[in-house]
Amino acid sequence: MMKKSKLLSLMLAVVMLMLVAAGCSDSNSEVSVGIVLPTKDEPRWVQDEQRFKDALKGTDYTTEILFSQGSSAKEKENVETLINKGIDVLIICPQDGDAAAAAVEAAKKDDITVIAYDRLITNTDAVDYYVTFDSLAVGAAQGQYLIDNAKGSNTPLYLYAGAASDNNAFLFFEGAWKVLQPKIADGTFKIANSSEAEALKDKAELSRDELSKIIGQVTTNWDANEAKNKAQTHLTAAMADLKGDVAILAPNDGTARSIADVFGSDSAVSSYLVTGQDAEKASIQYVIDGKQSMTVFKDVRTLVKDAMGMAVEILDEKKPETTGSYDNGNVEVKAKQTNVIVVNKDNVKKELIDSDYYKADDFTGLE
Ligand code: BGC
Repeated sequence: MMKKSKLLSLMLAVVMLMLVAAGCSDSNSEVSVGIVLPTKDEPRWVQDEQRFKDALKGTDYTTEILFSQGSSAKEKENVETLINKGIDVLIICPQDGDAAAAAVEAAKKDDITVIAYDRLITNTDAVDYYVTFDSLAVGAAQGQYLIDNAKGSNTPLYLYAGAASDNNAFLFFEGAWKVLQPKIADGTFKIANSSEAEALKDKAELSRDELSKIIGQVTTNWDANEAKNKAQTHLTAAMADLKGDVAILAPNDGTARSIADVFGSDSAVSSYLVTGQDAEKASIQYVIDGKQSMTVFKDVRTLVKDAMGMAVEILDEKKPETTGSYDNGNVEVKAKQTNVIVVNKDNVKKELIDSDYYKADDFTGLE
């Protein structure tokens, strides 16, 4: 028979071993899917984080979400952190499409499958898949809205674009330009704020370089403040014939609201149409209040579902389903694409409240 004291110390040793083992497995705990998002400073990406969390509730996938806060260096650091945690799949929305190449090349070296999320990573072969909305359709919907709602001819058209470091900014602008250009050519609109666009106004199809020239001039850098400053500068320079009833191509909701505030407070602007995208809560309120004309609703739940679905298939060693491909300047990246929905005052309730995207009591004045 073992002595009581010996038995006790043996039990103690076993318990201690278990604790150590538990501690170890904790600190080494493997993350299978790493997610890197661009910034917490825009509601769009905070929402993506929340939608990822919602989608992962009740599942046992181990994931970790890190934000790059507008810095490609921080983004690279995030990717390295996740590589060290043993991820098998990286879902990444790049801050800067070109600069992210180095980060995903490091992941690829470690046999990690890379999924570009919403924004394409450009000029590298180290990206396996792309889940995205139809970004050309986003721009086309914005342009078409202005065409359908502008009255008369010679309506001053103010053009704004996203950040040149984001491939989507090109797709949005290209989609919008394709529908707007014939209406500039036929005198429905006159360009109010871009000499580069003015110089190219007879061309329906713009090359990447031509798009770059216009975007370089009217970029907001996806920054609401920069958008506001640019809009102020443009209105200060504008003569009376560039005021009155105007149309504004604003690339997303954050920039649309600040541009709308500037145009709304100029007494020589009698009315303005302004586009947006993302269906951010603040913009839905603006749409209800008649301060923003439309937004393009990109249902993030679908994008998250597609990205996670793809990641799980990869973990299960299956081949993910794709619907097309995107040329990233180096390779054709297999892509899964989601449609978008145009939202204005008339269908805001149906598309965003009845679909359970937002709660009715998040807003005032909703009919
Ligand atoms: C996204 C938009 C977003 C913008 C600014 C784009 O790449 O597709 O939804 O508004 O970036 O963050």
